[in-house]
Amino acid sequence: MEAKLKQLEAEALAKITEANDLKLLNEVRVAYLGKKGPITEVLRGMGKLSAEERPKMGALVNVVREKITEEIGKKQQELEEASVRKQLESETIDITLPGRPIKTGNRHPLTKIIEEIEDLFIGMGYKVAEGPEVEKDYYNFEALNLPKGHPARDMQDSFYITEEILLRTHTSPVQARTMEKHEGIGPVKIICPGKVYRRDNDDATHSHQFTQIEGLVVDENITMGDLKGTLEVFAKKMFGEDREIRLRPSFFPFTEPSVEMDISCKICGGDGCRVCKQTGWIEILGAGMVHPNVLEMAGFDSKKYTGFAFGMGPERIAMLKYGVDDIRHFYTNDVRFLQQFAGQE
Ligand code: PHE
Repeated sequence: MEAKLKQLEAEALAKITEANDLKLLNEVRVAYLGKKGPITEVLRGMGKLSAEERPKMGALVNVVREKITEEIGKKQQELEEASVRKQLESETIDITLPGRPIKTGNRHPLTKIIEEIEDLFIGMGYKVAEGPEVEKDYYNFEALNLPKGHPARDMQDSFYITEEILLRTHTSPVQARTMEKHEGIGPVKIICPGKVYRRDNDDATHSHQFTQIEGLVVDENITMGDLKGTLEVFAKKMFGEDREIRLRPSFFPFTEPSVEMDISCKICGGDGCRVCKQTGWIEILGAGMVHPNVLEMAGFDSKKYTGFAFGMGPERIAMLKYGVDDIRHFYTNDVRFLQQFAGQE
């Protein structure tokens, strides 16, 4: 009987070693330790033993049973650990994979140009002023020395909403509004950025909606020299110290005298090329000395005060600065175009 037990033990231990999953191990447990298993059978057969042999055999059975139980326990732990390890391995996250980049937007090139121009003039003591895009005919035209029926109104084809209200065709009405608020007392030193609207057919250089920045200085003893100096500083800061400026006589109803400012062409250095249309110069903005009528209409004494004003298109400046060949790129918002201006903040 003792030999049989030893054999049982050896068999069970071999099976335990072989069992390579928890299901098989449980089968081994049932087979050897279960009610119908050989150990229980041995115990049942103990009744036939003599009184001296019985406790000896009983102890032996217990030792074997404990040994088998212990080995099953060990193996079970081993298998459970292995299964956890396997699960962990299969579920690990590969932290060496590069992450997906988060797409961030960037500021619009026009916004950047406007802010750059604003900063430049703020640095020279100007304040930023804004006004409505839906404007009264009075501020858009009349207060700027363009009475009803004035032929120069045709220079700016307009979108009228009513007889008296229109989408502003330029940022100059903000001049008139700001001067009016000053109630005849200088100095006034402002720049006015904003959207403007004209009844134009859209093409590579025209848009029915675009932006302008207006500048206005009104004080005692303001001269054309102040205007020229200011524009020269602006042009060099914006386009490079090596740029020359030139003022050409022009006409605007709200300035007298009126000029247009050109900067020397950077591409050809003044020799003439396609961009400057073989002239060596590129037109940048309109300007002039504020017309006495405009000062008077806004409540300023034109004998005491003089002023200068200028107006420019940020689109044109951005096109020249960044080499953009079509104004429509600024409005169609193709991200491939816009992204080229990322990271230059
Ligand atoms: N308002 C003018 C335009 O839109 C530009 C300008 C502004 C000219 C101020 C002179 C002085 O064409």
